[in-house]
Amino acid sequence: MSKNLAGSAEIGAAQKFSTEQLNQLVDHENGVIDRRIFWDEEIYKLELERIFARCWLMVGHDSQIPEPGDFVTSYMGEDAVIVSRGRDGKPNVFLNSCPHRGNRVCFAEAGKTRRFVCNYHGWAFGSDGRLMGMPAEELYEETCPNFSAADIGLHPARVTSYKGLLFATFDEEAPSLDDYLGEFRWYLDILLDNDADGTEFLDGNIRSHISCNWKFPAENFVGDSYHAAWTHNSGAMAMLGVPVGQPNQDRAYHASVNGSGWQFGLDMIGNAMTLGEQDIVDYLRSREEIVAERLGKIRSRMIGAVGSCTTFPNFSFLAGHNTFRTWVPKGPHKTELNTWVLVNKNMPFELKEKYRKGVMRTFSPSGTLEMDDGENWEHSTTVNAGTVTRRQKLHYGLGLNSRIEHDELKGEIHKRKYNDANQRAFYRRWLELMSTPTSGEI
Ligand code: FES
Ligand SMILES: [Fe+2]
Repeated sequence: MSKNLAGSAEIGAAQKFSTEQLNQLVDHENGVIDRRIFWDEEIYKLELERIFARCWLMVGHDSQIPEPGDFVTSYMGEDAVIVSRGRDGKPNVFLNSCPHRGNRVCFAEAGKTRRFVCNYHGWAFGSDGRLMGMPAEELYEETCPNFSAADIGLHPARVTSYKGLLFATFDEEAPSLDDYLGEFRWYLDILLDNDADGTEFLDGNIRSHISCNWKFPAENFVGDSYHAAWTHNSGAMAMLGVPVGQPNQDRAYHASVNGSGWQFGLDMIGNAMTLGEQDIVDYLRSREEIVAERLGKIRSRMIGAVGSCTTFPNFSFLAGHNTFRTWVPKGPHKTELNTWVLVNKNMPFELKEKYRKGVMRTFSPSGTLEMDDGENWEHSTTVNAGTVTRRQKLHYGLGLNSRIEHDELKGEIHKRKYNDANQRAFYRRWLELMSTPTSGEI
């Protein structure tokens, strides 16, 4: 990257808050959260700088870009990005914004191309983001001292694949992805590494918008099993003809690592039931021993169980159900939801289709269960328009004394299914990032 085009550090929202003010927003020890974090514009701007521009964000799956030239477009925070397979076979992530006047260089959601050519003046970039050429290139060489096309390109992010999932960060100081995920990889492997042939995203991605702050869905998936029997009961009755059962509280846990969290039971078949496809249940049951051999008994029981997960900050999924999603911020009161379906690569085609249909019936914009959730998150956000309302605090105190040690499970473990433990851990991490000006200090 040309030195004179290199970016500079944050100059925005950071000046508006002292560490003391930020600390008052989250009291994770007592489970008290200030509502302004779901509403205020300035807090949101600081999140873009200190969370979305620094964390490793899930941007896609290797299977979406199998060959050189394949690409998908996405967002990291509010930064538009291209995720592209280079000619050397490596994945690249770079800003979808031309270094000449800033225009968007790719308008497609997915495709294959040798060049990304900017509409405005015709600068062309390769699948690694490098500038390949432009109209009247000789004039640049004649009139622009030290001009070197090789030094100019689409601003790159660091990118790493974890067992097929592609993560990227714009922070050069961020730890490696392995360190960022830490012991949470042990949990991710349940879905990503239960079969030697690996996984893939089914073709296609559904994008929809919800008028809510991005943290409500993220914190819901990180640990809110409490809402399921109430919020989703009518949906379950309509779809499956049975109410959402009461979970076994004693064989259920919250696990968290660096703000990421998974709440789960050990019933093996739970989430998978909601797809309404007996073949999927049979498939999971038929593989229990194979998975146990590969990952151990306890993880073989989590593969399709009732549970939900968020990888900090905004990537969530449901094991067994296999909806994978990112909550992309579009302002403090608006979230873009991207949904994919993850399957084992070597699964029969008919079964993959059943996953696709099951997810569409439940967790798509018209899905029964998605609609239940979206309405709650919208009102949890928008009611804070009230000046007095937004000054009030929210209660996150369930399970404050439920922490346990566990011989096998990794990370910080809390017992019982109904618990705010993972949500408190999520906001502890949120506060740590928000109140630390430079990445090296985290
Ligand atoms: S803005 Fe892209 S070529 Fe000018
Ligand atoms: Fe829900």
